[in-house]
Amino acid sequence: MEIFHISAECYPVAKVGGLADVVGALPKYQNKAGHLARVVVPCYDTNFKKENNFECVHWGFVKLGKFNFSYNVLKETTDKLGFELYLVEIPELFDRKEVYGHEDDIERFLSFQIASLDWIIGRDTMPDVINCHDHHTALIPFIMLYCDKYIKLQKTPSMLTIHNGLYQGQFGFDKLHYLPEFDLSHVNVLEWDNCINSLAVGIKCAWAVTTVSPNYLNEINFSANGLESLFNMVRYKSRGILNGIDTEVWDPSQDKMLKTNYSIANFEKGKQQNKEALCALFNLDPTKPLFSFIGRLLEEKGGDLLPQASALALSNNYKEINILILGSGNQQIEEQLNSLLVDYKGNYNTFIGYNEELAHLIYAGADFLLMPSRVEPCGLNQMYSLRYGTIPIVRRTGGLKDTVIDFGDNGNGICHDQSSVGDICYSIERAVNLYNDNKKLNAIRKVGMSTDHSWEKACQEYIEMYNLIIKKG
Ligand code: GLC
Repeated sequence: MEIFHISAECYPVAKVGGLADVVGALPKYQNKAGHLARVVVPCYDTNFKKENNFECVHWGFVKLGKFNFSYNVLKETTDKLGFELYLVEIPELFDRKEVYGHEDDIERFLSFQIASLDWIIGRDTMPDVINCHDHHTALIPFIMLYCDKYIKLQKTPSMLTIHNGLYQGQFGFDKLHYLPEFDLSHVNVLEWDNCINSLAVGIKCAWAVTTVSPNYLNEINFSANGLESLFNMVRYKSRGILNGIDTEVWDPSQDKMLKTNYSIANFEKGKQQNKEALCALFNLDPTKPLFSFIGRLLEEKGGDLLPQASALALSNNYKEINILILGSGNQQIEEQLNSLLVDYKGNYNTFIGYNEELAHLIYAGADFLLMPSRVEPCGLNQMYSLRYGTIPIVRRTGGLKDTVIDFGDNGNGICHDQSSVGDICYSIERAVNLYNDNKKLNAIRKVGMSTDHSWEKACQEYIEMYNLIIKKG
């Protein structure tokens, strides 16, 4: 089966969050299973672009109202990623370091979608399925169905995978003329809440919709930033497929970013050595339990609760715990977190930014990983931490509920229900007690390390879903 993944992010090409990890792994496993999966992403100004070789396989112009942008489709020339990678180079719009957050994001991602489809319809054969990811590529199913120029793709099934329904890519009807020509009797398909809502359009037009965990699919029927009723209407074509993790990239016995490699057979010693290295880097106490947070410092991830929860936990357990935060996002949260550095020196530290290598070392060296998310469509960090023998402390939401079970119920982690400082601190207390019971602690770590979160199963479910819609075509 020939599959095109079209996405704004793909690891290691361009990464902001988990979307990149999924798009950088799923196609590889689909190829291993005998399919032909390709990935198409915009060409940002990244190190990956500078350090790799590409050949131009197609070029053209995208017309957006009165604007014309020239584009090239560049194919990465080695096979090292495990899938064919194509970068859509639109220099005027994408030759920038930041993936998102520009005033012209609507123009950028719309041009990317149009250029990708222009290239695809110029090829000799059409793919079996096009898998779009999140709102940045969610207009594609509409364009394929209704825009005259793309009639060749009208019978090609499209699937929209939702990694985060909070972001929807809304814009006003004043930009309607940016879209390629279509019969205006279909204009109402674009509308949701008086504007063009890219995600809603994708949900309506895609032949199938998936979310990145089953529980998140249940939740968005009740809470989806205004799209609840739409999700209810499309239940018949929706499925929640739990993400996997790339067990080749995330393998403590092979991971080159660690101080010491280890496996389930010798994890105690291995983890301790990584912890010592980490504590030396951040002036922390390796004899005390180490709690960490890795991710974007946003309300959605419970980032706003971290400063107060850290201060409270550190003062309740004076010099008995360490906390290390790695992340960036909301500036106010960053400042609040940094303001604790003086008072809790020696037991608390932060790294404000994104650092993949450090993240790996933290998964290996930390004892507990905090994930107090308000919204977590799947969450990959808890799965990385389980694989590295680090116990996740999560709020029961979205995919966290699907993957982490409280140790009180014979599970692999620590769970709480509320998005509150109190709940986080209570879980930290339980973790400290657990830490002092070495036998129990190690037994739970082993449960986590032996859980199978590899992509094989999820990959199979994606193929089943594609097959269902291909049959309909
Ligand atoms: C988004 C979601 C996260 C999910 C990831 C990959 O970043 O917020 O929960 O794991 O996408 O699907």
